[in-house]
Amino acid sequence: MLPPILRVACAVAALGPALACLADDRPIEEQITTLLGRMTLEEKIGQLTQVSGVDDEGRKLAREGRVGSFLNVTGATETNELQKLAVEETRLHIPLLFGLDVIHGFRTIFPIPLAEAATWDPELIEMAAQIAAIEAWSAGIHWTFAPMVDIARDARWGRIAEGSGEDPYLGARMAEARVRGFQGTTTDGRYQPERLIACAKHFAAYGGAEGGRDYNTVDISGRTLREVYLPPFEAAVRAGAGTLMSAFNEIGGVPATGSRFLMTQVLRDEWGFDGFVVSDWNAIRELLNHGSAATPAEAGEQALLAGIDMDMVGKIYPEHLPGLVESGRISQAVIDESVRRILRIKMRRGLFEKPYVDSQVEKDAPLRPSHRQVARDVARRSLVLLKNQGKILPLHKSISSLAVIGPLADNWAEALGSWAAAGKADEVITILEGLRKSLGPGANVIHARGCEIEGDSREGFDEAIAAAKQVDAAVLVVGEAAGMSGEAASRSTLDLPGVQEELVKAVHATGVPMIVILMNGRPLSIRWIAEHVPAILEIWQPGVECGHAVADVLFGDFNPCGKLPVTFPRSVGQVPIYYNHKNTGRPPSADKWTSKYIDLPSTPLFPFGFGLSYTTFEYSNLQISAGNEGEQREWTVTADVKNTGERGGDEVVQLYIRDDAASVTRPVKELKRFRRIPLRPGESREVRFTLTPEHLMFYNQRMERVVEPGRFTVWVGPSSADGLQGTFELTTTDNGS
Ligand code: NOJ
Repeated sequence: MLPPILRVACAVAALGPALACLADDRPIEEQITTLLGRMTLEEKIGQLTQVSGVDDEGRKLAREGRVGSFLNVTGATETNELQKLAVEETRLHIPLLFGLDVIHGFRTIFPIPLAEAATWDPELIEMAAQIAAIEAWSAGIHWTFAPMVDIARDARWGRIAEGSGEDPYLGARMAEARVRGFQGTTTDGRYQPERLIACAKHFAAYGGAEGGRDYNTVDISGRTLREVYLPPFEAAVRAGAGTLMSAFNEIGGVPATGSRFLMTQVLRDEWGFDGFVVSDWNAIRELLNHGSAATPAEAGEQALLAGIDMDMVGKIYPEHLPGLVESGRISQAVIDESVRRILRIKMRRGLFEKPYVDSQVEKDAPLRPSHRQVARDVARRSLVLLKNQGKILPLHKSISSLAVIGPLADNWAEALGSWAAAGKADEVITILEGLRKSLGPGANVIHARGCEIEGDSREGFDEAIAAAKQVDAAVLVVGEAAGMSGEAASRSTLDLPGVQEELVKAVHATGVPMIVILMNGRPLSIRWIAEHVPAILEIWQPGVECGHAVADVLFGDFNPCGKLPVTFPRSVGQVPIYYNHKNTGRPPSADKWTSKYIDLPSTPLFPFGFGLSYTTFEYSNLQISAGNEGEQREWTVTADVKNTGERGGDEVVQLYIRDDAASVTRPVKELKRFRRIPLRPGESREVRFTLTPEHLMFYNQRMERVVEPGRFTVWVGPSSADGLQGTFELTTTDNGS
């Protein structure tokens, strides 16, 4: 008997008249046409069906060619066993596609995606995605349900943790970096086999859920959809993402999973996407709950006609598509098109040539020291220094005593965050461990838990206070459990859960110099802490290298350089709060009759793009000049940035614009470019950005993308709330886009 790989090749080759028993290299589309010609309707619908986990029923489906993909099956042995059923026992030997939520690492867990976005370092995030892909591929996975590219403007929404925050431009850069990292290079239209096919999700506007409540209704304008929510998806598609996942939510009355406008008009007709779309979990059946379909069959019809190619676990396609075809409500051609898209991705991934994974690689790939090293680097670059009054940080390593207090100070599991794939809590370096290791055995490090993350017990307070009274400085690690963000984890408040803030106050009352470390999956409202505690470090959920990364920053071995990818409100009542809002007819001022709350300043606690360093940067000499690049108009914006402190450090220089008056109102600021620059003490560098008409475009009242003449304001600075300001004029003749 032939080895399996050759048998598959032969099976495919046998379909073409003169092909020998070799890997089939006819153009993919031709191969698919031949294969489609041989498939029964049942086999075709099998390709459109995805099943979760493996049991006897799943094995039976695989053996009968009635499933195209599994999710939540991992491991070389497990996936190879199942694959063998599809490849060796089915009539047409079509391999299975194994998918998994590899969101921020597989075994080496990186910081949560929101934290990764705080690095403002797409190249580094590409590397993290690449490592995740290599590790997951070694465990038999072909396809990740990532990147999650949903823009989130409401921190109550738990899934804010899974994306890149509130900004479409930063979100788009992160989206394309992750797609490149997961998928690797595409050669001759083929994906790199030892990587993962990416899946940009959740298409679309899932983050716009009313009240930040997960799965909730979204009702946004077509303009907001296109200008805010869609750009990261478009960037992912342009970067070559093989698949997309539909969102659970409706938008203005049409559930995304039944939206032909999204899945076909925008995605395929406008953007030219030729991969496939998978529904989210059971989302096709949920069309019944939405009330857009009266029967499961109607739900299936709606989804398939909209452009959903694969049914994730809902069983609507296998149960109802045969009847829909028989009754003529769905044509064979529509089914064939969806099957074609799925086979196309399987072929591009090389599954027909190499359906199995070598079990040896599974032993070698995960959690390599080099992977942990990158995880440490990503983690420390994702930390955002929010306050450092009196330069209390960095701490001296010669410090003779340190108290490490709080429910998250010595916690393994929560640092992994949600969606930790094959990550293991006992592989996490806790903050206590990291600090102890960094200080060495001689240091007096006292640990006190103080309280739990939730609950109202203050029993541990005395111990924490006693610890604080004995030491030179106290580090308090407070925040959220991993399960408090992510899917189905929306919160009605952004305050620290339980009695943690009381614990902070109690320790503060001892007078000990203190640092608050926040470990959380979303912005928190920490007004009291921001006012009273001298130093605050936002660490998000930093992953497996948590303790090392925190120690690197606390003791100054690494100069913090993260910047917020999302606005921190003063109180949950300010939500939604985001920097790129509209001005209104009555922008907030001292005048009572303006747009604001009477009980809070209108500004956030910490703005988008904000983050301190142990050094200081000075911005000067903003210059804007107009020129031409070929036919196209362009503007060069330069500014000098100088490190005026005593330490080397990275600054993320951000460029924002505003179209001061246009035929539709424009945001008060929009991020258009950014650049990370390392500067030695005293070093000054000119940072140069180019703007093209593309950066100035928006949707006019007829929903056409245009650039309109007029004045544009430009800011170059360290955050969305600060920077040098200048203007330039676009005259009618400049409109050369
Ligand atoms: C539901 C989630 O919304 C989605 O993001 C995830 O990929 C699927 N479940 C599969 O786990």
